[in-house]
Amino acid sequence: MTETNEALSTASNATGSTLDSGAPAASDRNSLSVGSNGPLLLHDVRLVETLAHFNRERVPERNPHAKGAGAFGVFETTEDVSQYTKAALFQKGARTEMLARFSTVAGEQGSPDTWRDVRGFALKFYTSEGNYDLVGNNTPIFFVRDPMKFPHFIRSQKRMPDTGLRDNNMQWDFWTLNPETAHQVTYLMGDRGLPRTWRHMNGYGSHTYMWINAKGEKFWVKYHFKTDQGIENMTNEEAERLAGVDADFHRRDLVEAIERGDYPSWTLYVQVMPYEDAKTYRFNPFDLTKVWPHSDYPLIKVGKMTLNRNPENFFAEIEQAAFAPSNLVPGIGVSPDKMLLGRVFAYADAHRARIGTNYFQLPVNKPRVKVNSYTFDGHMTYEHSGKAPVYAPNSYGRPWSDQTGPVEDSWEADGELVRSAYELHAEDDDFSQAGTLVREVFDDAQRDRLVETVADHLSKGVVEPVLSRAFQYWKNIDETIGERIEKRYHEIAR
Ligand code: NDP
Ligand code: HEM
Repeated sequence: MTETNEALSTASNATGSTLDSGAPAASDRNSLSVGSNGPLLLHDVRLVETLAHFNRERVPERNPHAKGAGAFGVFETTEDVSQYTKAALFQKGARTEMLARFSTVAGEQGSPDTWRDVRGFALKFYTSEGNYDLVGNNTPIFFVRDPMKFPHFIRSQKRMPDTGLRDNNMQWDFWTLNPETAHQVTYLMGDRGLPRTWRHMNGYGSHTYMWINAKGEKFWVKYHFKTDQGIENMTNEEAERLAGVDADFHRRDLVEAIERGDYPSWTLYVQVMPYEDAKTYRFNPFDLTKVWPHSDYPLIKVGKMTLNRNPENFFAEIEQAAFAPSNLVPGIGVSPDKMLLGRVFAYADAHRARIGTNYFQLPVNKPRVKVNSYTFDGHMTYEHSGKAPVYAPNSYGRPWSDQTGPVEDSWEADGELVRSAYELHAEDDDFSQAGTLVREVFDDAQRDRLVETVADHLSKGVVEPVLSRAFQYWKNIDETIGERIEKRYHEIAR
């Protein structure tokens, strides 16, 4: 229990409640009026405070990933991966307190947990070197590879400007006009688009990140958090039923599992690519629409994350939680992945707008290390550095940073300024990894369900010319599956 809660719980009905100012409140039930039937009075501080604060109870919901929930836990590094990274949290034996938040992407705050969607898998590690956030999804890939497309993508999955309705035609219009979406759309329309619970899905960092070891050697890495509960998914029918019966099915499942001591855990593995391999690898290793096949870069075990504590207050600790790919620590860097570079800007900016300038000062976002950041003031400043200098350099003892020259988490980049797609590597294209997923990973039953799911989705409001493009899109992924989808569509839509 927090200090504030303890103080509140000792205040009995006899002592009554207080105003926000701490002074005794006269009543929580009756407004002050001129006689029993008379008008209300502006100087009823309790009434004014009650109504005015209520009007300000909400902060804007997250634009994507609005519906979600989370829990606290611990990450333990069980293996020695010091040859790849010097990050303190990934040194063998380190135990780091952390927070996880799971979410759907397109739905709003009240939307059902079981709508088919990608799931967010956002992690915040309160490390001894500052906060490290890994803001991933339950899929190892993403729909697009240029951040310019992200807002367009999200709007196409949300609601129509006129009716405010969701619209399958809009979704397929975007997807088919952006064929790099094929791999992620196949994953989404497959069984993993409907995880049974958040506990039964994997999490992926998705992007390629850089790890740097104590000798300054650099590696490219991809993160895989594999569920120790095993992968379990649900059928379209179950998901639709649950959407009506219990819109909070996934949120409830996590709360209840932790309450009964059935703590969910995930084992972290990484794929590690030697720095120099990136230049000649058969796929562009920074393209977020591609995986690195396990046969090329096998999984290396790192440690285990366990969630063992529900939040005490949903708003303070989950709604106000601010995850950002820009929260990095020494030994971990970004990569030339353009999506990741876009995200490094986008999240902290969203938090300043959604929560407020000083969101880092809230307990859930506050680093567990001393902060000396040279940002000052703004709404709701709580932490401050007293009379210490507010400028750098200074002659009065406040440390400042002064790195110059090459940085350790760097890579070579040169050339003209251009607006262009990535340079193609030997086997880059938009469809082949999606085809591999359909042909080599899905079994017959999964392929049957894929055909049914896609044909059903297309039959609900998708019109020409989008419809024909959608059939062609699937034929590009796999000729047979495309033909089956088209045939099944005509049977359903007849
Ligand atoms: P592998 O056979 O080594 O890996 C296939 C992987 O697919 C599995 O390890 C599993 O990943 C994942 N998978 C299993 N069932 C499903 C499903 N129904 N829906 C989505 N993913 C599933 O082959 P490759 O590494 O060469 O990859 C082949 C294809 O597998 C890729 O094109 C990609 O679509 C998919 N895949 C690859 C991953 C990777 O990082 N290499 C990760 C996930 C999918 P997991 O063990 O992570 O659950
Ligand atoms: C949430 C932007 C791509 C995973 C968000 C939010 C924004 C955003 C603005 C809301 C943040 C908030 O209000 O707190 C972007 C942009 C992207 C991008 C601009 C591409 C350039 C991705 C990718 C992933 C991802 C590729 C996964 C690999 C998430 C998750 C959340 C989120 C999990 C929810 C975090 C939470 O639980 O609070 N994104 N996003 N996003 N995004 Fe992205």
